[in-house]
Amino acid sequence: MLSAFEHTSVLLEESIEALNIQPSGVYIDGTDGGGGHSFEIASRLRGGRLIALDRDPEAIEAAGRRLAQFKCVTIVQTNFSQMKSVLSDLGIAAADGILLDLGASSHQFDTPERGFSYQSDALLDMRMSKQGMTAAELVNSAPFEELARIFREYGEERFAARIASLIVRQREQKPIETTFELSELIKRAIPAAARRQGPHPARRVFQALRIAVNGELDELGALLDDALGLLNEHGRLAVITFHSLEDRMVKQRFVQWARGCTCPPDFPVCVCGKTPQAAILYKRGIEAPEEEQQQNPRSRSARLRAVEKQAAPQPPDTRVRLGRAAYAFFAVRS
Ligand SMILES: C[S@@+](CC[C@H](N)C(=O)[O-])C[C@H]1O[C@@H](n2cnc3c(N)ncnc32)[C@H](O)[C@@H]1O
Ligand SMILES: [Zn+2]
Repeated sequence: MLSAFEHTSVLLEESIEALNIQPSGVYIDGTDGGGGHSFEIASRLRGGRLIALDRDPEAIEAAGRRLAQFKCVTIVQTNFSQMKSVLSDLGIAAADGILLDLGASSHQFDTPERGFSYQSDALLDMRMSKQGMTAAELVNSAPFEELARIFREYGEERFAARIASLIVRQREQKPIETTFELSELIKRAIPAAARRQGPHPARRVFQALRIAVNGELDELGALLDDALGLLNEHGRLAVITFHSLEDRMVKQRFVQWARGCTCPPDFPVCVCGKTPQAAILYKRGIEAPEEEQQQNPRSRSARLRAVEKQAAPQPPDTRVRLGRAAYAFFAVRS
């Protein structure tokens, strides 16, 4: 018997609004977790369908119970990067809305034996899918340069090299197996003055390892590559991010879709003919309201971004663009 699945959905109302749910539409929740967002989507459907994905078998189990009353829901245990093949297997051509609520669930963080948290002692695991390489295996086998890169890039940890170096020395004596062993080591590697400032000293490294173990940025990149192709015209993609790396990826991709034309800025006319593929719904994204942030600390780092897919591209736009080169041309002639 599994314990209750504890997870408070973040930006619930806002993300449901962003999806602009049509009762007969097809929706995909790529990160089903405890089924909180999925429940709200499913309860708005009349004749529509919801496909709910998660890579974590415990989430699938919990979502099965939470969503059992809805006949319109299909739950699939898989990575969201596989969304295209899931839709094709189900014979669905495209969806009207896709939701991603990224990162780990509170259930994952708060179940000590999943090994995500530096706050309880357990085997250093961190695998959402419970398959593949654990965080302990990564920490005990990756070369120094790789560990330092992971801590620097995924954790934005300024003492990345010091921590990686201490890990490499330590594991020659004895492998690092538990969350507390790693967290103690991180504390030893960080200078005392820095250790006393800011959040828990292990926070950044644990985040970095979790991202690496679960290939989180690769998953997000792959989904963003496919997302527009999976949506119907005017379909929406809503993404809730929890740290700057994933937020930047989403923002940059949305800006690229909204810009359309990829010609260099000094071209007087557009020669690529690419028109905007999507419209950005909230320029700066949406943060959780003050009240939600007070009730649910996890929501403090959350940001919701959303786009709407535009209608099929028109023939190439050859209108003169008054860019820098055009002004220069007119200036020389006059
Ligand atoms: C923040 S929780 C989602 C919570 C959910 N929206 C709710 O309201 O209950 C994130 C979930 O996404 C899953 N997940 C993260 N990355 C995934 C991926 N690449 N593919 C499939 N599931 C993923 C995790 O296992 C976790 O259960
Ligand atoms: Zn162009």
